[in-house]
Formats: sequence, structure tokens, C-alpha cells
Amino acid sequence: MKTLSPIKYYLAEDTIDNKDIDRLISWLKGTPRLTKDKVTVEFEEKWSRWVGLKHSVFCNSGSSANLLMYYVLLLSGRLKNKKVVVPSVGWVTTIAPAIQFGFEPIMCEADKDTFGLDLEHLEKILIKDKPSTVMMVQVLGVPHKMDALLKLKQKYGFILLEDTCAAFGAKYKGKKVGSFGDMSSFSFYFGHQMSTIEGGMVSTDDKQFYDLLKMMRSHGWSKDLDKDAHNALVQKYQVDDFHTPFVFYEAGFNLRSTDLNAYVGIGQLEKLDWMGQRRTENHTRYKEHLGDKFYIQRPEENCVISSIHFGMLAEDEPQRKRIVKALVENGIETRIFSAGNLGLHPFWFNRYGKASFPMADKIHHCGLFLPNHPSLKQEDIDFIAKVVLDAA
Ligand SMILES: Cc1ncc(COP(=O)(O)O)c(C=O)c1O
Repeated sequence: MKTLSPIKYYLAEDTIDNKDIDRLISWLKGTPRLTKDKVTVEFEEKWSRWVGLKHSVFCNSGSSANLLMYYVLLLSGRLKNKKVVVPSVGWVTTIAPAIQFGFEPIMCEADKDTFGLDLEHLEKILIKDKPSTVMMVQVLGVPHKMDALLKLKQKYGFILLEDTCAAFGAKYKGKKVGSFGDMSSFSFYFGHQMSTIEGGMVSTDDKQFYDLLKMMRSHGWSKDLDKDAHNALVQKYQVDDFHTPFVFYEAGFNLRSTDLNAYVGIGQLEKLDWMGQRRTENHTRYKEHLGDKFYIQRPEENCVISSIHFGMLAEDEPQRKRIVKALVENGIETRIFSAGNLGLHPFWFNRYGKASFPMADKIHHCGLFLPNHPSLKQEDIDFIAKVVLDAA
């Protein structure tokens, strides 16, 4: 059997480097409190300032962040119905909580330019089904068409959840992605724009959502709320002092992270803009080589891309096979484009039947990823692009 070439170019690399580890070790030697405590609050405040929203809640993954957003929406009492538009291109946990919490998900085709929600299809769904909620994904650090999407929001009055898990650092006309939704989620998984080992965040300007997010993250108790919000609950339910810390106002989860992860996050945040800049430069270099020859994501004017991989579509499946083979033979890691069309996965079609759409299917059958991370050099990208072009 032919042995595979060892990987020389990984799709993603750890953004936690030796300096970050040394910093963490020094902090640990100060015997900090190793649970969620003050450092988490500091990280949340710094994150809110960075993203440009009032409030943030740190949790243990991007998937947990999505779970929290859906559940908090349900508890908020603001939904007219449980219909939610979900994207065909995204991640399983962009949609899974909708299924787990008994929403009625309606899948939307992918946009031909950004691979986010196809806005014509979305409008048809909004007219026909009148969903209360739209869940969007900023696909892979390429900003979606936010002016047009926000116009639809104004016209039809839905709540917008913005899954920015693998996209932060990107900007739409000067405004950071992740600052458009009523609530937005972020993931700090390995290989994403920055890492807290595992981790996630929900950010919002909405105080009711913020309070519910904090309660649901930790068991449904009120300990993490500010004094006024906490006291209001204590008074409403006439709780005595001794019981106060352990009264569960909602049926909550434990989706907390820890101060250790938050400490890592604060360090990552300090170099996030620099890492984002490197990703943008790499993406641009790939685009120079491959943009004329292959179908790739194209944002509107005045957008900044911050991609974690470079996504491209081959002409057809045989061409994708040839490209993948050449990449693997040259030690270049590759994979399908995100999860392709989520409507073609068993978790979806076993419940609702196959959701097949021309664009999402094309991404499913012809899409692939190329490496992009801050330590990739221009000559690496030139080489990878050459392998792709020769194979095609
Ligand atoms: C769009 C999107 N949403 C959610 C997630 C889940 O994030 P996590 O891996 O932190 O749970 C991912 C993971 O890659 C993602 O790409």
C-alpha cells in the first residue's frame, strides 16, 4: 500500500504559542482560583469592547454559545412562533439546538457570492412561513450581505442570531461581523481565529438576553447577575438570605468555562488583530493565484475577510478528486468545505428529508479547504496554489 506523505502544511495551527504557555505557567504559579471567577469577567469585558457590543458571556464552546442563544430566545417570551430559518452551509450545532428545543427549522439555500443565507430564498420563507427567528452564519470569515439582510429584518421583524464562530475579525463596511445579530456567537476552538483551547462567547446589546444567558450558563441561578437583576428575583420570589445563592429560577445548564481558559483568551485577544491581518494577507494571496480560475466566496466592496481556511470550489467532483489527491501527495492537508450542505447529512434528512439546493449542493460536492493560518508564508501559499493549478 502506498504510504501517505507526512503533512507539511496543516489546515490550521495552534494560535497558543510558547510565549502564551510561559505566560500561563507564571499565572498558574500565583495559585489563582481555578474556576470561573474574576478573570472570566475581565475577558468578557475586553471581548465586548473588541467586538463593539455591551455584554458578553464566556462559555465552554461555540456550540454551547449557540445552544445558549436558542434557549434564551425561548425563555425571553419574545417569540411569536418557534419557526427558525437555518442555513444550509454552517455547522451541525448551528442547527442542532433548534431540533433539541423543539423549534421548527426551515433550511435556506446558500448565497452564490458569500455562501451565507440566500436572500431571495430567505425572503420567500419570510413571506410564506413568517418565522420569528433567523439564524445566519458568517461563512468562514467572509462577511455576508448585511445591508440587504438587515433591510429584510426591518421589513419582516425577525430576531437575528449571528453565528460568527469561525468568522470573527472580518468586517462588513467597517463594522465587525458578530456585531449585527440580536445575539452573536463565537468559537475559540483550536485553529479558529483565536483559541482558548475550547471556548465560546455570546455577545449582545440586550440586557434581558444578557441576564438570561448568565443564568442559563450556570444552573439557572442568579449569582452572576448584577445587584439590581439579582435583587429583583429575590424579591419577586421572597427568598430568604440563607437560600438566596442556591435558588434556581430557570432550568439551567452548566456551560461555563474557567478562568484558566479566560486567561489564555485575554492573551489571545492582544494578538487577535495581528493574526487576523495575517489571515487576510494569506487569503488575498490565494485569491490572486486562484480567484480567476475557481469559484470562490466574494464579499461586497469594503469588506475585510478573516478566513481560517481558504475555501474554493472545483469545477466538478472528478476535478476535486484530482486536486485532493495532488494536495495529499504533497503533504498539504485538505478537507470538505465546512460541512458542505447540512441538508444532506443524516441528522437532517432522517427528520425532514433531503434539503437539496443548487448552490449548497455545489459546495457539498465540489468544495474544499486549503490551509490558512498566521504562520503560513507567502511562498507556502504560492506552492499550494501551484499544486492546485497543476492538478486541475
Ligand atoms: C459556523 C460554526 N458554528 C459553530 C461551530 C462550533 O464551535 P465549537 O467547535 O467551538 O463548538 C463551528 C465550529 O467550527 C462553526 O464553524
